[in-house]
Amino acid sequence: MATDSTKPSVLIFGGLNTCSRGLAAFLVPLEGEALVSHLRIVDKYSVHPPTTYIGHEFTKVLEKPEVEYRQANLTVAAAIQSAFDPPEGKAAFDYVFDFTGEVRYDRSELIQINTTFGVARLLGLEAAQRKVKAYVRIQHPFYETSSKTAALEKDDIKPAETLGIWWHETLRMQASIQDLNLVILRIGFVYGPYTNFGNITSAITVASVYGYLQRPMKSLWGPGKNPTHSVHVDDVAGAAWACAKWMESHGRKAADDLAGEAILFHNDKSRVKEVEGMLPHEEKPVAPLFNLVDDAKSTLASTGQTISACFGTTFEFFNMVEVTLIRLKDDLEDINEHHVEGWTEMLMNSNPPITNTPLNPYMDKYTLEKHVVAFNNSKIKNIVGYKLLHPDFNQADIKEIVDKWKAEGVWPNAQNPSS
Ligand SMILES: *[C@@H]1O[C@H](CO)[C@@H](O)[C@H](O)[C@H]1NC(C)=O
Ligand SMILES: *[C@@H]1O[C@H](CO)[C@@H](O)[C@H](O)[C@H]1NC(C)=O
Repeated sequence: MATDSTKPSVLIFGGLNTCSRGLAAFLVPLEGEALVSHLRIVDKYSVHPPTTYIGHEFTKVLEKPEVEYRQANLTVAAAIQSAFDPPEGKAAFDYVFDFTGEVRYDRSELIQINTTFGVARLLGLEAAQRKVKAYVRIQHPFYETSSKTAALEKDDIKPAETLGIWWHETLRMQASIQDLNLVILRIGFVYGPYTNFGNITSAITVASVYGYLQRPMKSLWGPGKNPTHSVHVDDVAGAAWACAKWMESHGRKAADDLAGEAILFHNDKSRVKEVEGMLPHEEKPVAPLFNLVDDAKSTLASTGQTISACFGTTFEFFNMVEVTLIRLKDDLEDINEHHVEGWTEMLMNSNPPITNTPLNPYMDKYTLEKHVVAFNNSKIKNIVGYKLLHPDFNQADIKEIVDKWKAEGVWPNAQNPSS
């Protein structure tokens, strides 16, 4: 039962702190049949005991006979090579899911280069040499797009911040690797059960504080068109899987013909000589690229309203005078302090009190800044035939996320004493 050689064997690299637990649960569900014969997940964290939050579901997934976890330092080429070696007596891995990359914007540029670009380069080169049938790279929404029309895959959009520049450079580098059966999946803002990173998770946590305080949640950014397209973590998993199957049936060359896009330079030209593996600015490598967002066309306002309604409060906007005052006083730290105080009170007033949780309402600079991310999702539907599992962004899904955290004992159950 544990192995079935007619099913693909799969490697997932990185992303234990982002979406790879969701993919693992999709490939080897707790109930029902596994989609894979073998799954090896490789990341820098330990899972026994966990050195990062892994959640109740993934803990169970790790117990499945098909699943193997390996802790490895992915900046080391030898560690990557050995991670690609199949288990004793088994054939080579069929699919690789590359969920690596630094998602914290506040790391130094050198760290971004090493852990985003450098790791992905070692992985891409090794996967090409091993001739894996599909290699799916997840690209997070570190871009600023137009607020007027949702970006198509062929549009040349601008990476956001140093973080985004190196994620984008990584795509150029991987696209240029000969024989790599690469598909790039460019996702929106992720949310979903056990997903404890990103802007939507922050918004859920902060909204709960306002609900508890019985006050409206207010945004620093005007209610104008401000798209922040979203995607459920189950769809990241489902679409990554669909893209792998699609790639396997076409191969890179046909896939480039069907869905290839040129990935243009958005970096500092002087870096080309300094960073090993970086392509000259004039090169225009092509790779199959698909946007993945839900159909909700989420905006800051719609997301804020849906989430705040779950906690019995409303989402409003500061008026111009208030915003100017807040910015003048550089009050962002005060805002955070206020949220963290409320959250701490909620944790302490819970029954039993919560002393350890992976969630907090602290919003870093990136989360607090205004972002415009609008992606058109028709290409993946038309070419890969992908059908969204969660086409809309709704209260029921947010409630499910919170209920799962409550069941784990990491989400407060405190009521406001005055309510
Ligand atoms: C991973 O390897 C790099 C390069 O050898 C090293 O600098 C780094 O400290 C290692 N990281 C860990 C967590 O051991
Ligand atoms: C990045 O990698 C290079 C080359 O392996 C190494 O010399 C450097 O110390 C690393 N820097 C950081 C900040 O990890």
